[in-house]
Amino acid sequence: MISSTRQEASLKELYKGDFQIGAAVNPVTIESQKSLLTYHFNSITAENEMKFSSLHPQEEVYTFQDADRLAGFAKEHQMAMRGHTLVWHNQTPDWLFENGQGGPADRALLLERLRSHIGAVVGRYKDTVYCWDVVNEVISDDTADKETFLRPSKWLEIAGIDFIAKAFEYAHEADPKALLFYNDYNESHPCKRDRIYRLVRSLLDQGVPIHGVGLQAHWNLFDPSLDDIRAAIEKYAELGLQLQLTELDLSVFRFEDRRTDLLHPSEEMLERQAELYEAVFRLLREYRDCIGAVTFWGAADDYTWLDGFPVRGRKNWPFIFDESHRPKPAYERIAALANR
Ligand code: GLA
Repeated sequence: MISSTRQEASLKELYKGDFQIGAAVNPVTIESQKSLLTYHFNSITAENEMKFSSLHPQEEVYTFQDADRLAGFAKEHQMAMRGHTLVWHNQTPDWLFENGQGGPADRALLLERLRSHIGAVVGRYKDTVYCWDVVNEVISDDTADKETFLRPSKWLEIAGIDFIAKAFEYAHEADPKALLFYNDYNESHPCKRDRIYRLVRSLLDQGVPIHGVGLQAHWNLFDPSLDDIRAAIEKYAELGLQLQLTELDLSVFRFEDRRTDLLHPSEEMLERQAELYEAVFRLLREYRDCIGAVTFWGAADDYTWLDGFPVRGRKNWPFIFDESHRPKPAYERIAALANR
């Protein structure tokens, strides 16, 4: 049973003076989680519907319908909306990198297509979307290779490193008011953190219009450590940009853990998750002057991408609301913290 009347305090109200509280949504969850979303959250992000493949599957074809519905939901409920995402190595169609004659696109063609895509998409949602994850996940995870800095991709191969700067410039051109973010995961691991910092610092030095760093925050009960999270926030804060947690979830499993026997989270897991959420939110409040929003990558445990990753079909319980949308111990801790 999904409860429709809510007794607990609204999270967005509790955190009004600190930062926005966001959730990733899709056309199904804006219906199935509607009362939860509108009661607790004041910001949304489209889970998949604004990605390149979703919006622009063929060169001459744009498919805005699902994204329009989500933008309409944000408007109807006076929620802020984050745009996600303009440049990524995943969920991006092949045609973009091809020249239509059986060969690869060249740099000029790729950048022209990027400009036209960004112009159409950012332009369309200008009245609803106040910030964009312009570039997502271009930093390499390969810690063994000290020289590796950027992830190998078609973007890099064809256009060279400045596809990154160009994307920000095109987005700024399309909507000069929009806040433009660089977004990445494993953002609190020291090696990746320093690479992200180096990239953003060099963009700033080149005068590129970039206004924020998105920490995806796909974390779990064991990793990263709070010390690493704090160190990452401090390091990014030195850039003088707005920081946001953009995709927060706390998996109950270690990343390497492939167990599939659990039908319910154990009491111990829920307690540990509550402690961790409390510690994370305490830390975020300390840095509220530079943190603009905290967005969960979902809203309640009935729907999470972690049910399919990294183990297909294994249930996970990463949020502060349970499968019936009731507050979990983690919610209670976060709520209590806000009142202190
Ligand atoms: C990354 C992307 C998101 C989403 C998640 C997994 O973090 O930025 O758009 O695809 O992976 O769902």
